[in-house]
Amino acid sequence: MAVSRREFVRRMGAGSAALASASGVIGYGREDWLAVEAQGQGARPAVAPDAIRISSNENLRGPSPKVLEVLRQHPSKDLGLGYPPPNTRAFQEYIARMYTTSANNVIVATGSDAILAGAVMAYCSPTRALVTPDPSYGTPIQTAQRMKYPVKAIPVDSGLRVDLDAMVAASQGAGLVFICNPNNPTSTMHTLADVEKAVRAIKEKSPETGILIDEAYIDYATMAGVGSTSKLALELPGVFMARTFSKAYGMAGVRIGYAIGQAETMGKVGRAWGMGSLGDLQAVAGLAALKDTAHMDGERQENRRIREWTLAQFRAMGYEAPESQTNFVFVNLRQPAVGFRDACRAQGVIVGRDFPPMEKTHTRISLGTMDDMQRAMVVFRKVLGQSSAV
Ligand SMILES: Cc1ncc(COP(=O)(O)O)c(C=O)c1O
Repeated sequence: MAVSRREFVRRMGAGSAALASASGVIGYGREDWLAVEAQGQGARPAVAPDAIRISSNENLRGPSPKVLEVLRQHPSKDLGLGYPPPNTRAFQEYIARMYTTSANNVIVATGSDAILAGAVMAYCSPTRALVTPDPSYGTPIQTAQRMKYPVKAIPVDSGLRVDLDAMVAASQGAGLVFICNPNNPTSTMHTLADVEKAVRAIKEKSPETGILIDEAYIDYATMAGVGSTSKLALELPGVFMARTFSKAYGMAGVRIGYAIGQAETMGKVGRAWGMGSLGDLQAVAGLAALKDTAHMDGERQENRRIREWTLAQFRAMGYEAPESQTNFVFVNLRQPAVGFRDACRAQGVIVGRDFPPMEKTHTRISLGTMDDMQRAMVVFRKVLGQSSAV
């Protein structure tokens, strides 16, 4: 659900009850909304206000209380200043310092989707294909298809992990290789060492090929060997890493993403597609979120607790799902996603859309709060014909 800046400021100023509801609003983005439209699955169906919405990998806990507080305290007169907004540059520089680099190695965008689209526009062409995992996050492939650029969709392996060897093999002469790590919707991940090996192999084979590593869910990853490719992106031309505030930071409704790479790479991507213009409220919210590292630690732990509980419930019912490194699970329900989804919707639980080519067997279920998941699990059990004891 989008919220206008005016409405946002009005809610921010209206005391703690409004802060609580704004927190929910800020956590919502438009992940399934965009994809449902792009896949031609029709308009996003209306959702009852009290439905449990676990379909878009949003963060239903919303952002850190410090983010809400900084927005509430923001001097309203500063909203009249916009060329440039007072805090936007400071935000970009703060990110640069986090990665021990400078501001021209950072793109800030109104959501990382703009970066993903820009990556395809910058590196692909009618003769230079996009190489993407299949299934994976849709913006790169949808952008390439819209532009009529060739696409090499590389099936995930038997463990539902991005098939890095096959991606390397397909990369010769490609425009862009998109590595979603962790991968949406399959929830799996590769170690930094394995991604680095693949990136270096691609660059050796095909030096002109751009490589985008999308780390939208990395803050939720808990397996051994997790690490960001930011250093690699700063070292190698045409390699860049994207992040979003829409997931673990709980700010999908605020719309902030960023990318890290060499200045020339960032310039090329930034010139290829509009990155939006980050407003002052976005910048102060983003800064407060980055500084509250304790909140992020708590968020990661809470998500892990809910994830383990949810996976254990499905496994106890006899359904398999990979070990998730994200805030969603991808469950093999051995039945078409559409039937399960419609039956759950009828009982007030909204789960993920179709993810071809796995829509005949797998459903993606985002993780809400523990209370959301416990209530949703009662519905899942009913729909799957299981006894109602949780
Ligand atoms: C893997 C991945 N990358 C990027 C995005 C886009 O995020 P943003 O809200 O920053 O545009 C999403 C959104 O769901 C995602 O799943």
